[in-house]
Amino acid sequence: MTLANIEAPVDPAAARRLILALDAAPMPIDDPALDAALGLRIAEVEGRLNTLALLDRYGVQRFDQGDLSYAVVRSFYRAIGPELRRRPAPRLLDLGSGYGRFGFYGALRHDLMVHGLELVAERAAEAARAAEALGLMGLSFETGDMLAVAWRPAEVYCMMNSVLPDLLPPVLARLEAEARERRIVVASVSTSNRAFAAAGWLREIPTTVEGPAARELRLWEST
Ligand SMILES: C[S@@+](CC[C@H](N)C(=O)[O-])C[C@H]1O[C@@H](n2cnc3c(N)ncnc32)[C@H](O)[C@@H]1O
Repeated sequence: MTLANIEAPVDPAAARRLILALDAAPMPIDDPALDAALGLRIAEVEGRLNTLALLDRYGVQRFDQGDLSYAVVRSFYRAIGPELRRRPAPRLLDLGSGYGRFGFYGALRHDLMVHGLELVAERAAEAARAAEALGLMGLSFETGDMLAVAWRPAEVYCMMNSVLPDLLPPVLARLEAEARERRIVVASVSTSNRAFAAAGWLREIPTTVEGPAARELRLWEST
């Protein structure tokens, strides 16, 4: 072992200060550097995965990694600012959470309770390990297919283009069932937006999103 591969332990206070500083100013974010400060070893875990084995294990799913940039995550939390003021401490469920960037940011910046549901076991395990190392009690991750497992109840849902378009209708049906229990807010990006825009039980929440997310991040509320 050399000095280069001895990893420094993560520092929870420093990670929180970093997120607060990045949140306060519109400065660019170095995604791999922030992942490292949170203790996430994404490249290492991804290096052990291979597409054929994932296909074998999970069938045809959208399991490419593609975590959104922290700039989009920051924009998301700015966009739901009015929601956080209206209803303090909403629970957030990240459907297809990858390595949990939305969860880490929300837990460190807003002390939110966030649960991530992720198909690929190794990603959920790595996010859970890093959350535990940071002592983030309100941040949890679970391995599961969002179409098959029970969902933890939440008020805010992130659905960031995680599933193949064919699988969106059943996900929307499950969200609609949640919305019969309580008012919910859903955030989406990219092609998922079309499905949400067509859902009669949702209406779009106008936002003033800036930065790289401006063109595609949308918020919806149940009616
Ligand atoms: C585009 S990434 C987004 C990750 C994270 N939400 C973000 O935006 O940073 C989509 C993630 O959803 C996961 N995924 C795909 N299909 C899924 C399913 N049916 N149930 C749970 N997770 C799924 C993939 O493995 C992948 O990690």
